[in-house]
Amino acid sequence: MLYNKDKLTDRQQNLPSNTGRLITFEGIDGSGKTTQIELLSARLAAEGIPVLLLREPGGTQIGEAIRGILLDKAHTSMCIETELLLFAAARAQLVREVIVPELDAGKWVICDRFYDSTIAYQGYGRQIDPTVIRSLNQLAVARCRPDITFLLDLPVDCALTRLAGRNRLKDRLDNESVSFMQRTREGYCQLAKDEPDRIVIMNATEPEEQLAEHIYHTIREGLAT
Ligand code: TMP
Repeated sequence: MLYNKDKLTDRQQNLPSNTGRLITFEGIDGSGKTTQIELLSARLAAEGIPVLLLREPGGTQIGEAIRGILLDKAHTSMCIETELLLFAAARAQLVREVIVPELDAGKWVICDRFYDSTIAYQGYGRQIDPTVIRSLNQLAVARCRPDITFLLDLPVDCALTRLAGRNRLKDRLDNESVSFMQRTREGYCQLAKDEPDRIVIMNATEPEEQLAEHIYHTIREGLAT
């Protein structure tokens, strides 16, 4: 789906050219976010746009340490409430230490995951009360919202095939069930339905280059300088 210019939010329409942009990428594991983020940032940077890439959880010294705790396979006893609070803590630090100052300085910040991940994974996946999740997200990000979010959507079986083909060490969160991944994907799709002005669903089964082209043109139409 291509971004509909008529649907731009007030913030998007009123963005002055020297203001930074916050672009987030979401999707279940295996959806190809990292590749698309790299392709988009290279293209924007080649046009002289100052781009900063971040990932969640992470992006700060504290956030990377929290990421280590969250992903450590030894932490099998981590309860879901602890997990939720750690994601929120890493996000609160990232927003204040990096994202807000960089946006104020005019950077285009591209973030691999943001608060939608918590709604999809901890809300729909872990089935924690959505009201609690939304207030924690609110506390973590305050007024910092993405200008646009790309949801790379693909069926769980495709994601699993891709993940099986990757040569990397598994982490604590790689051991979730198919039904967890299914609920997470459904959560993302529901979020996109709820916030169609911000969240653009992209078909992540499209060939990489074609998908990159769609994402780039969506950005140029919606968030151009
Ligand atoms: P990554 O593999 O995309 O870097 O993300 C790390 C894992 O953390 C991934 O399995 C998704 C998960 N996650 C959550 O469960 N909740 C969150 O809020 C975030 C940001 C990530």
